[in-house]
Amino acid sequence: MSLEEIAKKMCAKGKGILAADESTGTMDKRLTSVGVECTDKNRLNFRENLFTADAMKNYIGGVILFDTTIREKTSLGISVPELIEKNNSVVGIKVDKGAKKLAGSPEETITEGLDGLRERLSEYYRLGARFTKWRAVYSIGKKYPSIQSIKSNAQALARYAALVQEANMVPIIEPEVLMDGDHNIDACYKVTTDVLNECFNELSIQKISLKGIVLKPNMIVPGFKSSKKVTSEEVAKKTLDCLKKNVPSDVTGIAFLSGGQSEQEATHNLDSINKINDTNFLITYSYGRALQKSALKIWSKEMGNTKAIHEVFNHRAKMNSLASKGEWSQALEV
Ligand code: 13P
Repeated sequence: MSLEEIAKKMCAKGKGILAADESTGTMDKRLTSVGVECTDKNRLNFRENLFTADAMKNYIGGVILFDTTIREKTSLGISVPELIEKNNSVVGIKVDKGAKKLAGSPEETITEGLDGLRERLSEYYRLGARFTKWRAVYSIGKKYPSIQSIKSNAQALARYAALVQEANMVPIIEPEVLMDGDHNIDACYKVTTDVLNECFNELSIQKISLKGIVLKPNMIVPGFKSSKKVTSEEVAKKTLDCLKKNVPSDVTGIAFLSGGQSEQEATHNLDSINKINDTNFLITYSYGRALQKSALKIWSKEMGNTKAIHEVFNHRAKMNSLASKGEWSQALEV
């Protein structure tokens, strides 16, 4: 398959991406929050519950895994990548090594992981991966994000993308403007504009084929602590406007992160965006928390009850699938 075909498969109509690439540290937080100990066995058990649900066939075009998960064997006797492929979903892998303190602007971060990346990519390809993820993180504050942060993260994203396309995989480019803080929606619009511009500038310098990437941006939303609440329609209008102005039309797929929005909020906003989408971009979800939260809760209470866990996960994925086509409504949630 060409890179463009892989990107199209990941973001096919009615499908999106399941971000199950939480590091062991992040999984520790998630499992502890529902009162479950974060052991290898428990992590795999939860993920296997997701990967065996019907939703995988119908609504999930790709799954992002963490380094340890891509090497694991499921209780069915096949490996995790084999289980995902069996559902006709594309296997992905997070390849960055996390956001570290940025020298010269220590309250901000630079995402690391370029050293040795070429070698790691060839191993991940052998293990079944056909796409990858790298996440850059930007905070909004009085002095942030700085030019240093915007430029250095964009350059790292582009160098990563070049290595990934060289290895015949699709890079997910994830520049995440965080929702932390009390900024309003217009501040998010402005910062996201600057960040996207610099990313595409660097991607062009590195000669990245834009048809062979998936962009994973944040939506244009106010900070968690903002006193100004906005409607989903306003989020949709500003998000689509920002994408149209700053993302070259050659890009195949745009798959949003949920970034701490509630499950229904993330679905509602995606639906509002797709209801007014007049572009050729395939606009869908690449959610972590917004696909897993309810499933995690029920799993923590009824670990052996696969049917109940699947029901909850299937429902959430179906709602997002409808939203990716602009066909969701609140009435379908009950
Ligand atoms: P959330 O949807 O929980 O933000 O996670 C998506 C992701 O992959 C972050 O890197």
